[in-house]
Amino acid sequence: MYFVDPAIVPKKQLPNGEEIPCIGLGTFGSDRFDADKVSAAVAGAIKTGYRLFDCAACYGNESSIGKVFKAAFDEGTVSRGELFIVSKVWNDMHERVEEACKKSIADLQCSYLDMYIIHWPFPNYHAPGCNVDARNPESRPFSVAEFVNTYRQCERLHAQGLIRHIGVSNMTIKKLEAVLHLLVIKPSACEIELHPCFQQQALFDYIVEKNILPIGYMPIGSPKRPERDIMPEDVADIEMPEMKQIAAAHGIHPAVVAIKWAVQRGQLPIPFSVTEKNYYMNLLATTVDPLTDEEMALISTLERGNRLVKGHVFLWEGAKDYHALWDEE
Ligand SMILES: NC(=O)c1ccc[n+]([C@@H]2O[C@H](COP(=O)([O-])OP(=O)(O)OC[C@H]3O[C@@H](n4cnc5c(N)ncnc54)[C@H](OP(=O)(O)O)[C@@H]3O)[C@@H](O)[C@H]2O)c1
Repeated sequence: MYFVDPAIVPKKQLPNGEEIPCIGLGTFGSDRFDADKVSAAVAGAIKTGYRLFDCAACYGNESSIGKVFKAAFDEGTVSRGELFIVSKVWNDMHERVEEACKKSIADLQCSYLDMYIIHWPFPNYHAPGCNVDARNPESRPFSVAEFVNTYRQCERLHAQGLIRHIGVSNMTIKKLEAVLHLLVIKPSACEIELHPCFQQQALFDYIVEKNILPIGYMPIGSPKRPERDIMPEDVADIEMPEMKQIAAAHGIHPAVVAIKWAVQRGQLPIPFSVTEKNYYMNLLATTVDPLTDEEMALISTLERGNRLVKGHVFLWEGAKDYHALWDEE
């Protein structure tokens, strides 16, 4: 019943001209949904018409998702070549990227990755699910040399055919400026937090200007993010009166408005959902009933500096506060 023909889902272009779907499914269970629940959503999403999946080793569910991919290939629901599978190297594997990549490929049972993303631009490791006050004494500030060393390993994986594209994530203009000219294979995408109340306009423009595809994470404002990541100052994007007003005009949920805004603005959103109707509505949103210019302009006024992933747990000794991670004053 819930099906959108992948052929009619609009496409985004990667820098090499390759076309990929303009939306993907996120797979971070936010500590609330176990691997079985998330992989069941992936199975449902494939049947619904999703073809791009944003995975990561640190989400702890790649082996469950891999079983779903394999079943879909075996049953002939999709072929490997019809899917665009993204994974990410976690912070504790920056010196052993090949090992990490091969493990993700084995877990995901996908032969190769369409994109391999450096999840964070530094090797600062924290245990899964740790409290925001937790600090690792080995954490350190961003280092161009360390980043390029990690990236070079990705370039070798690309040469070996294990990954088709390299991506970066959680970067800033300052960090991209420092490294882009040193990279032999340019990143195809940069995955950053983007939602109506956190639009990162300058970084977004910079990425686009460099011919890199912006992938927007937490496109709905992550209403079910882990408790430990919810701060009193956070704004709920989908509770904004303007979002509700636009949603009412279209007869849709404000979450779906956020997806329409993301696609029409130009980033590739990767909303997470375990609810069939919701992930169907998000995919359908890209194919019908676009927002008007006035609605797009209204949403552009909703910027509130509402960064949800502050990254406290990655801070190093001596760092003033989380703004240091983002090169902010
Ligand atoms: N690179 C990075 O460092 C990074 C960081 C964070 C996240 N990510 C990626 O980004 C993905 C998305 O972020 P996220 O999962 O935190 O947040 P999100 O996609 O902004 O929000 C997901 C939440 O929105 C709800 N939702 C989805 N569609 C809906 C709809 N149509 N109507 C009503 N509610 C809807 C879902 O509830 P239901 O399940 O009930 O639908 C879910 O709880 C992650 O899964 C992950 O893949 C990457």
